[in-house]
Amino acid sequence: MRVADVLEARLSLSGKTAVVTGAASGIGLATARLLCQLGAQVALLDRNQEGLQAALEQIAGFAGRALSFEVDLSSTDSIEAVFADIVEQCGGIDILVNSAAMNVAGASVDYDLDTWQCVLNVNLTGLFLGCRLAARSMIERGVGGSIINVASVGGLSAGITGRGNANPSYRASKGGVVNLTRALAVEWAPQKIRVNAVAPGYVRTPMVARLTNDPAREAATAEKVPLGRFAEPEEIGWVIAFLAGEGASMVTGQTVPVDGGLLA
Ligand SMILES: NC(=O)c1ccc[n+]([C@@H]2O[C@H](COP(=O)([O-])OP(=O)(O)OC[C@H]3O[C@@H](n4cnc5c(N)ncnc54)[C@H](O)[C@@H]3O)[C@@H](O)[C@H]2O)c1
Repeated sequence: MRVADVLEARLSLSGKTAVVTGAASGIGLATARLLCQLGAQVALLDRNQEGLQAALEQIAGFAGRALSFEVDLSSTDSIEAVFADIVEQCGGIDILVNSAAMNVAGASVDYDLDTWQCVLNVNLTGLFLGCRLAARSMIERGVGGSIINVASVGGLSAGITGRGNANPSYRASKGGVVNLTRALAVEWAPQKIRVNAVAPGYVRTPMVARLTNDPAREAATAEKVPLGRFAEPEEIGWVIAFLAGEGASMVTGQTVPVDGGLLA
């Protein structure tokens, strides 16, 4: 068997429809691009309309097809309307990547409760709603599917980024994503829906611009990583693409750190 045939059998996403949230930027954008290169029809979701337009232009000409949908993941109505639209336009969902999230740091003793609720709404409740709407489409068609949630090393460890990085809502939400991933994987295994997560460490995206815009801070942060650098968004995207496809057919309920050895 030729290398290309083996890769085609295990990595190709031709004929699949993938939904990617947070697709206007960073890890979501890199993942949408890769899934489309691997042949999927990809629905790009974000609240950033301009970013979505720019993403569509980047992706044009790849093997698959790309469509964009504006959504606010803090709103149940917005999420339900967009998923209904996708199912109608694309005929169903085979793959869901939940990459969108927000991150508002602050000390726990003074942390604003409205901000807490907003972060939990987007990072956990919005993600859960997306998972179940995608699962309904997969179950209805009886075809199974693959869901990949973007968690964080901050959902697996609080000590990893050191003291002085108080971030209660983000860490609670990401810890919730890790255990929700396990719960949904077990609940939906009979329907052949695999649910996994990735836990990135430091990744060069706008979310951590406060670190990468300052060379001294970037160097000090990279120093904590055994591989000695920030990841590029595509390096997370490749692990997500693997989990999405047939190569990972026996993997479910897992959170895979993609962190350059931070948690090792
Ligand atoms: N960058 C890192 O170092 C890092 C580390 C660990 C985990 N992560 C996780 O990776 C994922 C992607 O983050 P990123 O680094 O690519 O960040 P990013 O800021 O580049 O992208 C996040 C995207 O989510 C979208 N978004 C946020 N709130 C939304 C809402 N309410 N509705 C719709 N869209 C919304 C934003 O518009 C943006 O396009 C997140 O889940 C983040 O927690 C990132």
